[in-house]
Amino acid sequence: MIRGCTLDDAVRICFVVNEAAEAYRGVIPDDCWHEPYMPLDELRREMAGMTFFGWDGVDGLAGVMGRQPLEGVTLVRHAYVLSTRQGEGIGGRLLEYLVGYPPSADRLRPTLQAMSSGRLLVGTWQAATWAVRFYERHGFRRLGDAESQELLRRYWDIPSRQRETSLVLELDPSQS
Ligand SMILES: CC(C)(COP(=O)(O)OP(=O)(O)OC[C@H]1O[C@@H](n2cnc3c(N)ncnc32)[C@H](O)[C@@H]1OP(=O)(O)O)[C@@H](O)C(=O)NCCC(=O)NCCS
Repeated sequence: MIRGCTLDDAVRICFVVNEAAEAYRGVIPDDCWHEPYMPLDELRREMAGMTFFGWDGVDGLAGVMGRQPLEGVTLVRHAYVLSTRQGEGIGGRLLEYLVGYPPSADRLRPTLQAMSSGRLLVGTWQAATWAVRFYERHGFRRLGDAESQELLRRYWDIPSRQRETSLVLELDPSQS
């Protein structure tokens, strides 16, 4: 089942993120790879600015995804499913849940959400071709390089090297 996560889940979310992020090893540029991929203190800072949802079962959280409303857009952030559970539809269900999430229910930033134009964006590594296909199968379309870079600069707080090697996809409005 899908549930909202709290800071109490941070350690487990951190485990899920870092285990799943092994998929990036040797794929993303070497100078962008570091261990752990996401330290716990960085995750806690991220959690303060967005709502995380998780797929919870008998073995605990197996997949997580964050939803970050900002002025003008909403971002899908930090999508990770444990490697042993990938391909079961967990990521797809989490993504569909976020796509259909009623803005008025946002507990963190209802005011910002109200100002949002409703654009739903997701950023990922250019090299993560599986992730691009995953989002495209769920109605997202890849934006051009110039627009991607502009959006990454404007809305994502990430290192410049990560920005240069990432791309943005947008949910096709006709799909939402
Ligand atoms: C991308 C990711 C979140 C998707 O989650 P998921 O639970 O695997 O997604 P789903 O099972 O809903 O869908 C995955 C699709 O790829 C296929 N797939 C992905 N991994 C698979 C695997 N290990 N075995 C078999 N099929 C797999 C599925 O068949 C499915 O295809 P479909 O949509 O045509 O049915 C997850 O694979 C992941 O954590 N990857 C590593 C980290 C990453 O790339 N994150 C994205 C950051 S933006």
